[in-house]
Order: sequence, then structure tokens, then C-alpha cells
Amino acid sequence: MDLVVEGRLFLGDRLEQGCVGIEDGRIVAVKKVLRGERRIDAGYRIVLPAAMDPHVHFRQPGMTHKEDFESGSLAALHGGVTTVLDMPNTIPPTDRSASLKDKLRMVRGRSFVDYGLFITTDLPRRLEAMSKLAAGLKIFMGSTTGSLLNNEDRSIQRMLKKAAELSMPVSVHAEDDMLIQHEEANDLKGHLRNRPAEAEFNAVQRLIAMGARGVNLCHVTRAEILDMAVRAGMSTEVACHHMMLDIGCGLAGRGKVNPPLRQPAARTALYSAVTSGKATMMGSDHAPHTIEEKAEEFDICPSGVPGVETSFPLMMAAVKRNEMPLTELVRMACDAPARRFGIPKGRIEEGMLADLAVYDPREVTVIDGGELHSRCGWSPYEGMEAIFPQTVIMAGEIQLKGGELCGERKGRNIKDAWI
Ligand code: DOR
Ligand code: ZN
Ligand code: ZN
Repeated sequence: MDLVVEGRLFLGDRLEQGCVGIEDGRIVAVKKVLRGERRIDAGYRIVLPAAMDPHVHFRQPGMTHKEDFESGSLAALHGGVTTVLDMPNTIPPTDRSASLKDKLRMVRGRSFVDYGLFITTDLPRRLEAMSKLAAGLKIFMGSTTGSLLNNEDRSIQRMLKKAAELSMPVSVHAEDDMLIQHEEANDLKGHLRNRPAEAEFNAVQRLIAMGARGVNLCHVTRAEILDMAVRAGMSTEVACHHMMLDIGCGLAGRGKVNPPLRQPAARTALYSAVTSGKATMMGSDHAPHTIEEKAEEFDICPSGVPGVETSFPLMMAAVKRNEMPLTELVRMACDAPARRFGIPKGRIEEGMLADLAVYDPREVTVIDGGELHSRCGWSPYEGMEAIFPQTVIMAGEIQLKGGELCGERKGRNIKDAWI
């Protein structure tokens, strides 16, 4: 056995003192007692499968003053995340073979965590040409950072059909652009007025009418949509900012994001639906913009908030406060994304890749944006409670120890043959 990790293991529905045996990067045994050359004794600390974030914007290429794969993946690692799926709204966009291959070349050897790349296109033949290298297709029904809009039923249907033929996962930014207004807005309330919940409801209803079963709805902001999605056979993703923040948060431009923060009642309804198990996955929609950009006049300040490093740790603190069941958190942030995208991770089980994170529930810290690892240098969760991982292991290699980086950039493309 190359490595044995002993601690309070999360085994699907319970915590149990035991050992995980690791060989060649995989979990080969889960037993009460195991011997191994190297041991990590986590004692009373909790050993969880590392998380997977199915939705990040690492800004490479074209906006690397905000983030790149090195800084973004380092942030991920410090947040207990060992797999990320990156979105295509970069400059240039990841919308054709050439830019996809360029991006893969750029990222290779630079990422601390495993990664997959989403692409966007409204041309079926391009989708086909990219399908072997990409993690999934992203469809933007509402305009947001980058202008990659596809809000035509016929075109969306054509892409869904092609994606299904190619067995390619599809994630949708579901806000109907026809219902988004572009009036001047000076605060979060004005931004919400421009992008009302009807835009989200309408986009989802249109997808349902198109028979878009199997599609993944990104950053769902309303509890009702979680139910609609289940009935329609769609998966859902929820982001921490829609559960923890609303238009009363006082963040001004820093709280500007698409879909927007909603009214307090909508936020609490979403949070309670998620804690009772109604969402499929958690995804941070990590969308870093610099402090300077976010301090611009509200109307021109870009939309998006960082979150890849804070998502899981914020929710671990919510677990400690008894708001979020640990079982739901691990299902949403580890198990479900891995299953959805076909990656052998997310569970402490024989045969899985040995991606683990160790948490000490006694170590509650307060978020300080300046101490995080994203290049953007701030957090919308400043001052909130979080429990960060102390140790993170990826494919059996210790990458983070005592909360400090100790590994190398070993991230691999999930579409490469190693899986
Ligand atoms: O607020 C957002 N920012 N929403 C998105 O859909 C895109 C993201 C970004 O890339 O900045
Ligand atoms: Zn989006
Ligand atoms: Zn996004």
C-alpha cells in the first residue's frame, strides 16, 4: 500500500473511523485497520471525497489579469476541489477546434487540479469535431460576460440533438434573453429588475417544451425550478452566492452577477430546498473580476463573483451549524458531479481515484478575501464562517498539507486516456 489515510471516513451515509488504502493513485481498500508504508493519521478529523466544481471561469486565454489556470486551480485546491470544469467564454471563446486545442495546450502542465473544458457553438459540425476533447457543451440563452448567445429554439434543439448523438453533456445558462432588459441600473435591486425571475422561468419552460431531458441547468436561483427540473428529467446546479446572498447584502457592484441575486425570501426558499436535497449539484460559477473592475460604477461593472475556493468550506461551516446535512453536501459537491460527467471520483470506495480532503470541524475560520488564492483578490463572503481543508490528496499524492501547498501541478484533462 503506497499510502494509508486514517480518520473519520465519510462512507456514503455515515462517518466511520477507518482506513483508506491507496495504490497507484486509486483507492484499493477501505477497512477498519490497514498497514502502509506512508500513513496520514487524521485522528478525529473528517475524511471526505474531494469535491468537483462543474462550473468555473478561469479566464484563460484573454483575461489572465483576472485569473488563469494556475491561480484558479490553486484556489480550487485550497477549497477542497480536485476537479473543475471550465467555461468557454474566454477571449477568444472556446468555440472551435483551433481555440480548444490552443487552450488545452496552454493549460497542460499548469493546473493543480484535474480539469475539463466546456465548449460553445451553434454549429453541429463544430460540436462533432470538438467532441472527443471537450467535457461538454455550454449554451448561453441569456447574455452575460462574453457575447456567445444562443437563444433560438430551433438552434438550441439542433444542438441538443447533436450533443445527444455524441453523448455530450450539455449545461445551460437559462435566462431568456428576450426577457432581459438593458436599462441603466445603479444597484442590485435595479440589476434584478433588469433580469427578473421570469427570464429564468421562461428559459426553463422553453427547454422543457423542447424536450430537453438530461440537460443541466446552471446556477438555479429559484426553489420552484429545482422541482420543475426533476419532473422534466433535467439536472440542476446551485451556486453558493444564490444561497448565501440576496439583494439586501450591501455588496453593491461586488454582488452583481448573472443570474442576479434575488429577494431575501427567494434566497431562503432556495437554501432550504437545497438543504433538503432538491438540487443535483453544487457549482460555484467562479467568475473572477478584479477588485478595481468591481469597484467601477454599478452600471458598467462586470457581472460575476469568485467562489471556487469558498463554496465547499462555506458549506462545511453550514454543516457545523446544522443547516446543511453532510450527506447532502457530499452528494451535491462530490458524488453527483463525478457521476454526471463520468469521472471515477466523489466516493470513498474501492476503484475510485484517491482524491480526498481532510477537514477539522473545530477549525472554523472567517473568510478574508485577501488571503484567498484567486488572482481577483476579493470575496463576496468576507467575514463569513468557513472550514477549509487541511489536507488534500489528488490521485494518491498529497497536494495540500496543513492548509499549505506541498504538491506539484499534476492536473490532467479528464478527456485524456488516464481515466
Ligand atoms: O455573472 C456572471 N458572470 N454570469 C455568467 O454567466 C458569466 C460570468 C462571467 O463569466 O463573468
Ligand atoms: Zn451562467
Ligand atoms: Zn458561469
